[in-house]
Amino acid sequence: MQNENRKTVLITGASGGIGIALAKIFAEHNYNLILTGRNIERLQSLSEEIHAISDVVIDTVIQDLNGQEGAEALFATLNERQLLVDVLINNAGLGMAGPFAEISLEKNLNILNVNCVALTTLTHLLLKQMLKRNSGYIINIASMAAYQAGPFMAVYYASKAYVLSFSEALAEELKKTNVNVSVVCPGPVITEFFARANMFAGRIPSGKYLKIMTAEQIAKATFLGMKKNKRTVIPGALNYISIIFNKFTPRRITAKFAGFFNLK
Ligand SMILES: NC(=O)c1ccc[n+]([C@@H]2O[C@H](COP(=O)([O-])OP(=O)(O)OC[C@H]3O[C@@H](n4cnc5c(N)ncnc54)[C@H](OP(=O)(O)O)[C@@H]3O)[C@@H](O)[C@H]2O)c1
Repeated sequence: MQNENRKTVLITGASGGIGIALAKIFAEHNYNLILTGRNIERLQSLSEEIHAISDVVIDTVIQDLNGQEGAEALFATLNERQLLVDVLINNAGLGMAGPFAEISLEKNLNILNVNCVALTTLTHLLLKQMLKRNSGYIINIASMAAYQAGPFMAVYYASKAYVLSFSEALAEELKKTNVNVSVVCPGPVITEFFARANMFAGRIPSGKYLKIMTAEQIAKATFLGMKKNKRTVIPGALNYISIIFNKFTPRRITAKFAGFFNLK
């Protein structure tokens, strides 16, 4: 049963690094949570951890979001349980590093299905409800990868370029409504993403003045971005500056640069 006085946020990929941090920050700000992912144990232990310090209502939905069917199944579960979503966070995502031709077609399409198809399907289904109520917020987690081509992670970078473009377009389409859209573009973040994507983190610059951001910092920037109704959120001042440089650099050069970081 949902508490009428509280807003409810649906977070996909809530069993992973950034999703967990998002769940915690929204709970701190008194949002009821709908947490979804495939890893039951992780979602249960996250729910228990939050319940120990907060009385927000938490629903968990175990769902593979590999494409349209998965997103539709999640939407059907929300309807069965009569759960209304005030804030949708499309955070679930994956990547795979390596030469495109050497990554199986199945894996490449799996990236598009989760990062783009499920995200678009869920947005379409929930946006209609939000527009009926003329109230709602959609947050899509893209990446700094959205701003350039990414050799040796070609499909992942392209999928995030889609998320950025789609989200910014939607924000403009909806500007006269009370439904808002933010897209968040984190740089590298310390999570399991790197290991899962078989990525080489060794060339990512980090040091005293250039620290790799944490999932908690991304979640905080996301929450603040929503509060300020920012269309595009780029967490971290240095990341923001590098995107500005990126805009003035030929795409062939930015692709070369990205390829250098992605190559093992
Ligand atoms: N980490 C980074 O450096 C970084 C940088 C920029 C952007 N991002 C983006 O941030 C988002 C979260 O990444 P993260 O760093 O937190 O990675 P993570 O720790 O690997 O978490 C990924 C989440 O996505 C979910 N997921 C993956 N495939 C799924 C599927 N088929 N069905 C349902 N859920 C699925 C996972 O859930 P289950 O395992 O339970 O299925 C997990 O909760 C992603 O969209 C990623 O592209 C990450």
